[in-house]
Amino acid sequence: MPADLRGRVEQYLSAAFLDKEIPSRLSDAMRYSLLAGGKRLRPVLCLAVARACAKDRVEEITEAVLPFAAGLEMIHTYSLIHDDLPAMDDDDLRRGCPTCHKAFDEATAILAGDALLTNAFSQMTRANVPVHALLEAVRLTADAAGAAGMVGGQMLDLQGEGKKLSLEELRILNEKKTGALLFNACECGAVLAQASPEERHAARCYGSELGIAFQITDDILDVVGDEATVGKEVRHDAESDKATWPSLVGLEKARELARRHCQAAEQALNGVFSGPDAEFLRETARKLVNRTH
Ligand code: IPE
Ligand code: IPE
Ligand code: MG
Ligand code: MG
Ligand code: MG
Repeated sequence: MPADLRGRVEQYLSAAFLDKEIPSRLSDAMRYSLLAGGKRLRPVLCLAVARACAKDRVEEITEAVLPFAAGLEMIHTYSLIHDDLPAMDDDDLRRGCPTCHKAFDEATAILAGDALLTNAFSQMTRANVPVHALLEAVRLTADAAGAAGMVGGQMLDLQGEGKKLSLEELRILNEKKTGALLFNACECGAVLAQASPEERHAARCYGSELGIAFQITDDILDVVGDEATVGKEVRHDAESDKATWPSLVGLEKARELARRHCQAAEQALNGVFSGPDAEFLRETARKLVNRTH
């Protein structure tokens, strides 16, 4: 990975929410979930796209965008805490550790999620980029995380339990629930780096293909993965009768679809991006198909 972007994100996050004015049980719960590991895919994508767009000022743009990227990870972590709650997926294991509501309690987990989401926006405004670019990225992120994006997708996911959705319905569910935040991470990287329209378009296409592929592989891992490697409960989707890609099209077809979308993601970058960060983005798409966690 160029410049150990994941390490940079990790280091940045480890300094978050140490504020003495936060009730300690709340900051403990927030930091418990935020620092439990995780692939940091969304912030890393945001940084890698920004770097690919900024070319000759990669170090400068990395420093400038890091607070925004960290905010994206906080929003993602909030979505996981709430996703695991008994009223939602009712999961006991996340990132290889007991879920937030198991380690603390349900009310604390709800509040930890609320706080991560809200404080993420304060965090994002600390990015050192021109204000018009920052404002646009903040608006895009609020929309991607909100009712027409991730939260809307979570609603469709719950409503889809026990139902046989059409392929189109599952694609829309997927695009909102998981695709929106991944797509947004890529688009915001371009916006914050003040990319050209061609670069922004390529980043959007890449993010959109990756977003579909990512949830297909997440659904596949629930069927074929093992708990210790995946770091979360497996075989849970079937138990809850979730609408998933393997349940709708079968495992082999789901694998084939994931492969195709990863290839399309790679191709979206061709002719627009080159250099080590573009290569990293291509490799991320290539590796996604065979991911084990
Ligand atoms: C899991 O996301 C939830 C989905 C959107 C499918 P990740 O697989 O990125 O989870 P972490 O951040 O690595 O734990
Ligand atoms: C959840 O999808 C996506 C989110 C918005 C958090 P899943 O419910 O499939 O995610 P996992 O498998 O619990 O990580
Ligand atoms: Mg869920
Ligand atoms: Mg879940
Ligand atoms: Mg899942």
